[in-house]
Amino acid sequence: MNRLDGKVALVSGAARGIGAASAKLMAEAGAAVVVGDVLADKAKQTVKEIEAAGGKAAFISLDVTGERDWQAAVKLAEQRFGKLDILVNNAGLFLGRDFEEVTLDEWHKLVAVNLTGVWLGTKVCTAALKAAGTQSKHGSAIVNLASVAGLVGSQLDPLYSMTKGGVTLFTKSTALAYGRKGYKIRVNSIHPGVIQTDMGAQTFVARATQTGSNDTDAAKTVALRGHPIGRLGVPEDIAAGICFLASDDAGFMTGSALVVDGGLTAQ
Ligand SMILES: NC(=O)c1ccc[n+]([C@@H]2O[C@H](COP(=O)([O-])OP(=O)(O)OC[C@H]3O[C@@H](n4cnc5c(N)ncnc54)[C@H](O)[C@@H]3O)[C@@H](O)[C@H]2O)c1
Repeated sequence: MNRLDGKVALVSGAARGIGAASAKLMAEAGAAVVVGDVLADKAKQTVKEIEAAGGKAAFISLDVTGERDWQAAVKLAEQRFGKLDILVNNAGLFLGRDFEEVTLDEWHKLVAVNLTGVWLGTKVCTAALKAAGTQSKHGSAIVNLASVAGLVGSQLDPLYSMTKGGVTLFTKSTALAYGRKGYKIRVNSIHPGVIQTDMGAQTFVARATQTGSNDTDAAKTVALRGHPIGRLGVPEDIAAGICFLASDDAGFMTGSALVVDGGLTAQ
């Protein structure tokens, strides 16, 4: 199940956190993975770990806000591994601040990564995904990292929520556009609850700060209580959902939103 044998994937923001876990799980499931990030040393470490486990991977220096970087990433996938079947638009930023305090420069940076990055990745990878899709029963796949904050409002970061809401609907609109054009590319979004990564830790700091405290452990406990399943998420929880959406097991899914949040938004 959820096998990716013979597939080639490109994962943005794969140096750490959810992106790194996804790159590793996809390689374990049989895909060759292009690991893209601005954090070169950490991303190269992801590649080393994949190769040490017997998988195939390659590093590319990828700033998702730059069109040329995306073009180089697609070229590497095609030259090294022969094609591109899967794009995971994972790179993202979280500010964790009230919108009254955020500067225009900070906003532009957030939008550049969380929105421009997703659109550019989709735009630049479309031709390669379209070509690979014709050779596969259920086509190629894009998985976009949205968030629970792309489904309901966020108390901690309304601007992050605005960008993730954009990713949620861009996913659906892209699925419609590909369908209309006859491209065999499925596009789905995934919506994590609080996941224990660097960004997850940032949310505890934001929660503490916004309640006038430095107690991030207490903030983490509040976050935990919001998850009816009784624990916070780990990157592997989301990687499993990403592998599923990228695999032929999700062959009848496009334009949909997979919520992996331990019940956070069920209440
Ligand atoms: N952790 C959570 O609780 C959570 C919850 C919901 C959604 N998400 C989403 O999941 C995705 C991954 O989050 P994470 O928790 O692993 O975050 P993280 O901060 O641990 O990792 C994000 C990665 O993205 C990379 N990145 C940042 N800017 C980049 C750029 N311009 N170009 C290329 N790479 C860049 C970083 O270097 C880092 O490796 C994000 O889109 C995030 O919004 C996370």
